[in-house]
Amino acid sequence: MVSSSIRTMKIVVLVVVVLLKAVSANSLGYDSIFSFGDSLADTGNFLRTGALAFPVIERLPYGETFFHHATGRCSDGRLVVDFFADAYGLPYLKPYLAVARDGNFQHGVNFAVAGATALDPEFFYHQKLGPILWTNDSLSVQLGWFKKVKSTLCSTPQECKNFFKKSLFLVGEIGGNDYNYPFFIGGTIKQVKATVPVVVEAIAATISALIDEGAVELVVPGNFPIGCSAVYLTLFETPNKAAYDEHGCLKVYNAFAKYHNAQLRLGLEKLRQKYPQAKIIYADYYGAAKRFVHSPKHYGFSKDRLVACCGGGGPYNFNNSARCGHTGSTTCTSPSAHANWDGIHLTEAAYRYVAMGLINGPFSSPSLSCPPIKKI
Ligand SMILES: *[C@@H]1O[C@H](CO)[C@@H](O)[C@H](O)[C@H]1NC(C)=O
Ligand SMILES: *[C@@H]1O[C@H](CO)[C@@H](O)[C@H](O)[C@H]1NC(C)=O
Repeated sequence: MVSSSIRTMKIVVLVVVVLLKAVSANSLGYDSIFSFGDSLADTGNFLRTGALAFPVIERLPYGETFFHHATGRCSDGRLVVDFFADAYGLPYLKPYLAVARDGNFQHGVNFAVAGATALDPEFFYHQKLGPILWTNDSLSVQLGWFKKVKSTLCSTPQECKNFFKKSLFLVGEIGGNDYNYPFFIGGTIKQVKATVPVVVEAIAATISALIDEGAVELVVPGNFPIGCSAVYLTLFETPNKAAYDEHGCLKVYNAFAKYHNAQLRLGLEKLRQKYPQAKIIYADYYGAAKRFVHSPKHYGFSKDRLVACCGGGGPYNFNNSARCGHTGSTTCTSPSAHANWDGIHLTEAAYRYVAMGLINGPFSSPSLSCPPIKKI
């Protein structure tokens, strides 16, 4: 009797252990996050390359909200990638360039660099009157960094498979700068639109390479509604009322972002067919951010929904001669009442809502495999 009940207990314990192991492989969260992209995701890489084109990010008011000092993030506080780390109980991702030599990458690392492009710099430098890039650390450079990191994490294909099946890959947002640079030096919609297929192709190639390296779950964000951003609204301000939608955003630039996003989604669909074992998630940054413009009050944002918190004056508080952090600019007293931080980037408050919209909400398709383990 006794021995049989002990045996039953042993079996029960064994079953529970096996079940827990099965659960921990997918639904108890991610063990690591690897992030790629530009200033929307950079937690300090650009700063470590010298930040010549954007030195103000090493000083307050950048970083004033959460960290209370500048970290190299292009915001007052945390970014979407930081809220992902929070939600899954992981430490904030270190910038790769800060830890490249002696880093512990068990929980992942951040390769994103402010100003980075999806396309390699040669694409831009080969154009007559092409733009001056802030950085040459494009997506393919970031992929190269990942390969170096990978060699410290696992050696055999099986080991790598086991490690990366519990990793989340955030691939972007990337591509926005491939359009910003030419738009800001006078490129027309038609000219820039012609580059969308190659930009999407560069993003897709990186996703393929990551899957070949072992990535299983990848989140790929699209572009924000750039026609609602203070920098576009200022640079392309026009007396033509028909150029604006009912929320005051520039229609052609929002249509452009939508066009990129639609092409990106088509690209992702092709990748899903090619890699049925991978989970490729489209993150709808456009939809997540458009809510701030449609119903700012709901998110605690002021009715001057398109005005940046930090800047040097003008109708959208974006002034190219006095950008946030430069002489002549001022910072609003309550960044959380603004979606836009410095005219180009969003505030921590806005990034939190974007992250929530992806992790809990309808803006990831399909949804993430793991439910968050902490509230953000
Ligand atoms: C990028 O590379 C080009 C060509 O080598 C160089 O002239 C330029 O200074 C580099 N830019 C940065 C930001 O490092
Ligand atoms: C933009 O900044 C410059 C330099 O500080 C200043 O002279 C100018 O008045 C500002 N423009 C607006 C619209 O505030």
